[in-house]
Amino acid sequence: MKIFLDTADVPTIVNHFDTGLIDGITTNPTLIMKSGRNPEDVYRELAGHGVPDISMEIVTEDVDVFVSEGKRLKEEFGECTTIKVPCTPAGLKACKLLSDEGIRVNVTLIFSATQAILAAKAGAAYVSPFVGRVDDNSFDGVQLVKDISLLYKEQLARTQVLAASLRDVRSVSECFMGGTDIVTMPVAVFDKMYNHILTDKGLD
Ligand code: E4P
Repeated sequence: MKIFLDTADVPTIVNHFDTGLIDGITTNPTLIMKSGRNPEDVYRELAGHGVPDISMEIVTEDVDVFVSEGKRLKEEFGECTTIKVPCTPAGLKACKLLSDEGIRVNVTLIFSATQAILAAKAGAAYVSPFVGRVDDNSFDGVQLVKDISLLYKEQLARTQVLAASLRDVRSVSECFMGGTDIVTMPVAVFDKMYNHILTDKGLD
């Protein structure tokens, strides 16, 4: 049961990582842009602080670029490197090539169990089903996590489910109950996990 934070805000990450409850970080181009920093400066600082797993998204649709950039990032940042690629033909081809070289790959933008099948066959370490965005389109995001988790369990797949695009604490517990291995969430959602009115009442 692993918790990742979905942010590229280094001071906040460092502060929360020191709780001992955070197992990794997922970033994406939007989060990196929000940080206003060079992505590799963010990765370097986080790696220097001992964050063991950092998802680093490569934005291209050229397999050779995915692979060369993935190898370069792994060379640069070592064991904390997880290369994030989209669930596209080029992304999955790159996933196969990178995972064959022992590089951890997180296949993102997963919206169906069939996509998760292909990602597992491509050797993905993680698949990231986007729960919140599925919910935004009037489908059941947690059910997608349940379906993929069951499928991987039945097939003894080595790929882990990394539930992403989480917007509230209820989805966090529902995804873990539904079989996800990892959840990634905004810091605001993580901070709310501590809260319960009866705990406060008990303290009073
Ligand atoms: C994580 O890897 C994803 O990029 C992130 O959870 C997406 O969240 P969003 O749907 O709120 O953008």
